[in-house]
Amino acid sequence: MLWFLTLHIIFLLFWCAALLYLPLYLALVERRDLALELIPEGQASLARFLLTHIATPAALLAIMTGTGVFLAQGRVEPWLIVKLALVALLVLGHALVGWMVLGRERDPDRPAPAVCWTVAGGLCLLMLLIVWFVLAKPDVEGLL
Ligand code: HEM
Repeated sequence: MLWFLTLHIIFLLFWCAALLYLPLYLALVERRDLALELIPEGQASLARFLLTHIATPAALLAIMTGTGVFLAQGRVEPWLIVKLALVALLVLGHALVGWMVLGRERDPDRPAPAVCWTVAGGLCLLMLLIVWFVLAKPDVEGLL
């Protein structure tokens, strides 16, 4: 179980780091700089490469190892249900970041830096809330 938990924490850290880096990358790297950007072979952009080769695999591995921990523990606690609901929102945030990367490839002026910073801020708050729920394990029985 400890191995699952350790791997879970490693992969969720990669997932969270990539999900925060990508909107900031889109906010701060202007399209005109892309000519200077080392675009990996066969990739439309470095952002797409980071999304498909780091963020998404880390997400899948974090979810698989988290499920492994859950099955190994075999108990459902109310705080874990809230945590998993918040994780579902994080998955939607992942899809939103993917949509933003595709948007940038189609249109250099999209998404606007303000949108990128807002998305990064929202994702950061969501991640902090998830970590708080799993570490503080608040009594949310009355809420459910
Ligand atoms: C479907 C996805 C996920 C599942 C099924 C899952 C499940 C779990 C379970 C069962 C534990 C053990 C909790 C305990 O009893 O202490 C755990 C630990 C943890 N999870 Fe997840 N998790 C998922 C995704 C995430 C995500 C996305 C994050 C962060 C953004 C996260 C952060 C953590 C942390 C920090 C711990 C370690 C808590 C400790 O040190 O005790 N998890 N997870």
